Amino acid sequence: MAFRDLSLGVIGGGAMAEALIAGILHQQLYLPEQIAVSEPQATRRAHWVERYGVRTTDCNQDVTAAVWLLLAIKPQVFLEVAGSLTLPLGARGVVSILAGVSLATLTKTFVDTPVVRAMPNTPALVGAGITALAAGDGVTHVQLNQVEAIFQAVGQVVRVPESSLDAVTGLSGSGPAYVALMVEALMDGGVAAGLPRDLARQLVLATVSGSVQLMVQENLQPAQLKDRVTSPGGTTIAGLAVLEQAAVRGAFIAAVLKATARSRELGQN
Ligand SMILES: NC(=O)c1ccc[n+]([C@@H]2O[C@H](COP(=O)([O-])OP(=O)(O)OC[C@H]3O[C@@H](n4cnc5c(N)ncnc54)[C@H](OP(=O)(O)O)[C@@H]3O)[C@@H](O)[C@H]2O)c1
Repeated sequence: MAFRDLSLGVIGGGAMAEALIAGILHQQLYLPEQIAVSEPQATRRAHWVERYGVRTTDCNQDVTAAVWLLLAIKPQVFLEVAGSLTLPLGARGVVSILAGVSLATLTKTFVDTPVVRAMPNTPALVGAGITALAAGDGVTHVQLNQVEAIFQAVGQVVRVPESSLDAVTGLSGSGPAYVALMVEALMDGGVAAGLPRDLARQLVLATVSGSVQLMVQENLQPAQLKDRVTSPGGTTIAGLAVLEQAAVRGAFIAAVLKATARSRELGQN
């Protein structure tokens, strides 16, 4: 039976839904009883109840009478799930975090209902994500502010036109993997230079996180930070010269372009 008085109905109780709801409850944006999660796996439903005290169901239709219906399933099951739903009259809005499902498709599926696409990234799991929002026609400022508040519970939020979402996916969506690859490579460098791996990991993580904090807190451009640590004839310029010879900059640019193109391609399937 459909739940009443819901602020947030969630379809798909997986990793990203959990990150969001943990953040929302931590920030006390909604109370547990205002949230319901529809999830096919009984063990996952039990986890949701024990850990967060939210309402759960295995019937997607049960959560549709919410102020916001959040789609957090894999894109591959979107058609099957959407085809089985009937939104109640006057449904207030649908938010989708599904990569590649366009506003046009959402609007066609949920007729006369405001729809918003959101592209969060994995650091949301520790409250340090960044989410890009693209709103469909007819979404009011008040509604968009509500959606923004949901995603602010797990980090920063930016608003973009839908045409930018593929680039966002290729940059901040895929970005954690690029950073992980860079961290791993630097660790290997430390090991090659004779450091134990654990120590190399600690040094790299603190260096990456500290450099980011420095750029954010002092509003420094990357070039300014680079120039500050690069003394004439010193160690850093020797290292940087090797990176430039290996065209690392060009490789990162090409990686973002390729990931953007792949996101666009997947969205057309
Ligand atoms: N993780 C990220 O960094 C990230 C970033 C941006 C966007 N996204 C998007 O977020 C969405 C979810 O990603 P995720 O990482 O959270 O995936 P996930 O952990 O696999 O979550 C999907 C959940 O949906 C459930 N589910 C499957 N079929 C269902 C159905 N018919 N009805 C209701 N629930 C169903 C799954 O249950 P079972 O396990 O039983 O199949 C699972 O719990 C994806 O569309 C992805 O594109 C994720």
